[in-house]
Amino acid sequence: MKRLFILGAGSMAESFIKGIVEEGVIDPRDIFVCNRSRRERLLELSEWYGITPADSMARAADTDLVILAVKPYDMMEALKQLRPYLSNQVLLSFAAGIPIDAIRRATGGHPYVIRTMPNVPVAVMQGAIALSAPPTVPRDKLRRVVEMLAGLGQVVEIEEGLMDAATAFSGSGPGFISYLLEAMEQAAVELGFAPELARRLLVQTVIGTAHVLREWDLSPSELRRRVTSPNGTTHAGVEVMQSRGVYEAIVEAVRRAAVRAEEMGREYTREG
Ligand SMILES: NC(=O)c1ccc[n+]([C@@H]2O[C@H](COP(=O)([O-])OP(=O)(O)OC[C@H]3O[C@@H](n4cnc5c(N)ncnc54)[C@H](OP(=O)(O)O)[C@@H]3O)[C@@H](O)[C@H]2O)c1
Repeated sequence: MKRLFILGAGSMAESFIKGIVEEGVIDPRDIFVCNRSRRERLLELSEWYGITPADSMARAADTDLVILAVKPYDMMEALKQLRPYLSNQVLLSFAAGIPIDAIRRATGGHPYVIRTMPNVPVAVMQGAIALSAPPTVPRDKLRRVVEMLAGLGQVVEIEEGLMDAATAFSGSGPGFISYLLEAMEQAAVELGFAPELARRLLVQTVIGTAHVLREWDLSPSELRRRVTSPNGTTHAGVEVMQSRGVYEAIVEAVRRAAVRAEEMGREYTREG
């Protein structure tokens, strides 16, 4: 990929830019970024990462890859504006819920549309990136995109039918995990810790747990069993969570997020 155009300069776009600039596979000046109205945001990103602010979508015309990083409810309108400048570029959508078919319809049948669900840790090259591409995307184009994304984390190719599920536990995952940590931090503070000190231990606990799960190739339930001795502290805590239905609540939260992704797809791609 030589030149990128990013549509929408929000938080996901910034995470992506940060990772891709650090990866060093593309000159930041060849990353063109546009917003709907907030010009100051583009200047900020230009100052921080060296990208080139773009005043209009016309800048997309001579790029190889266009990243669709607007909110799902802005997608159809943004694609209408982008359509005149499309030729051979690959479109890479980050948007929750929006089906590939809807993007193709809104762009007059553009064949090269790839749908991804990245998450915020792409900013530090630790992203989880689910990706789905239809057969209309030639394998060499797909390979180049996958290679670029692989520098930002773990890429997993899935069928598009699983994309809303990936959105729920992987796209929204950092939010859910942070929510658990909020509660753990509150408890730590109530038990006498300063928040910053508690946070240092908590963040390392998450990082360490993730590493152990991966390096020892354990399932979460196996690791939980290993660290839970009968009548010990973990056991006492897990018992409280079980009696309060925390497990079921988490299952329901992920299910609800998946349903919401699907609803957004329907709501925001309705024609006419
Ligand atoms: N945030 C996450 O953790 C996350 C994770 C995975 C996927 N995603 C997906 O990433 C996408 C972006 O999310 P976000 O959280 O980064 O959103 P965001 O912070 O609200 O940013 C969206 C940006 O899109 C711009 N925009 C809207 N309409 C436009 C148009 N017609 N032309 C050009 N720019 C336009 C907005 O510009 P103005 O401010 O000037 O209006 C805004 O800067 C969403 O589709 C979301 O589903 C997000």
